[in-house]
Parts: sequence; structure tokens; C-alpha cells
Amino acid sequence: MQRTFIMIKPDAVKNGHVGNILAHIQKEGFKTRGLKLIQLSLSDAKQFYKVHSERPFYNDLCSFMASGPIVAAVLERDNAVLHWREVIGATDPKEAKDGTIRKLYAESKEANAVHGSDSDENAEFEISFFFKGYELV
Ligand code: RTP
Ligand code: MG
Repeated sequence: MQRTFIMIKPDAVKNGHVGNILAHIQKEGFKTRGLKLIQLSLSDAKQFYKVHSERPFYNDLCSFMASGPIVAAVLERDNAVLHWREVIGATDPKEAKDGTIRKLYAESKEANAVHGSDSDENAEFEISFFFKGYELV
């Protein structure tokens, strides 16, 4: 079993997709080990995305991620990191396969509905960024 960290981003929360995305998570066989609704400050978002600090989209991405509530979750199943990346689809919903979460629910390449850790190592960092031990079951 492996864990991954995911977020439902401000566009998908605002557009009322949380319930459908949680149902999708369950259908894909993930167990939810942590779950919360929060709003990041701009400095939280900058800290979380600091790996992207040299990218041209960094400031816009951080402002967007702090613009409204998000859902943060820790999911567990076999091959969780890669499986979630497959379930969410390509970064740009225009390039995402049919049936993927970004194809179904994303607005644009930036407002792309969901986040997923890209490696086991980053998953553990991202989980500890958002969750204390007693918030994980
Ligand atoms: P994520 O980290 O959110 O799961 O997305 P990802 O791996 O598919 O994409 P990544 O390259 O890590 O980029 C992080 C987020 O930055 C926004 N982005 N905007 N305007 C742009 O060209 C651009 N490129 C990336 C997206 O919100 C992307 O998910
Ligand atoms: Mg990424």
C-alpha cells in the first residue's frame, strides 16, 4: 500500500464538484486516510509550490490556490501516486483523456480541478505539510 496527497483546487470547490470527485476517489479503490476543507494564505501557497518558484506561472498559481477554499486529502491504495495521476489526467484538460477528473471538471490548464503528488518522496513531504499525525487514520 502507498499513500498520496491530493487537493481539490478552488475552481472545483467553487463549481460544486467536491461530491463527484470524492465519489470518483471511492470508485477507484482509494481509502481516505485524511480529509479537510481549508483555505491557504498566499504565503502557505508559495511555500507549498516552492519547487515551481522559477517557473513563469508561479505567482499566478499561488494566487489562484489561495483564492478560495480547497479540499486536501491523503489517499491510500496500491500504486497510489501513479494511479491518481492516471485518474486525474493531463495538466491541461484539453489534453486529458475522456473520463479523467480534469477532463470532466477542470476549467483550464491553471484552474485544473485537482492536484496529485508526483512521487512517493513528494507525497510524504506534502502529507506532512498539511496533516498532523492525529489527523491521519
Ligand atoms: P499538480 O502539481 O497540481 O498536480 O499538476 P501537474 O503536476 O499536472 O502540473 P505541474 O507542472 O506540477 O504544475 C503545477 C500546477 O501549476 C499550474 N500550471 N499552470 N499556465 C501554465 O502554463 C501552467 N502550467 C502549470 C497548474 O495548476 C498545474 O497543475
Ligand atoms: Mg505537479
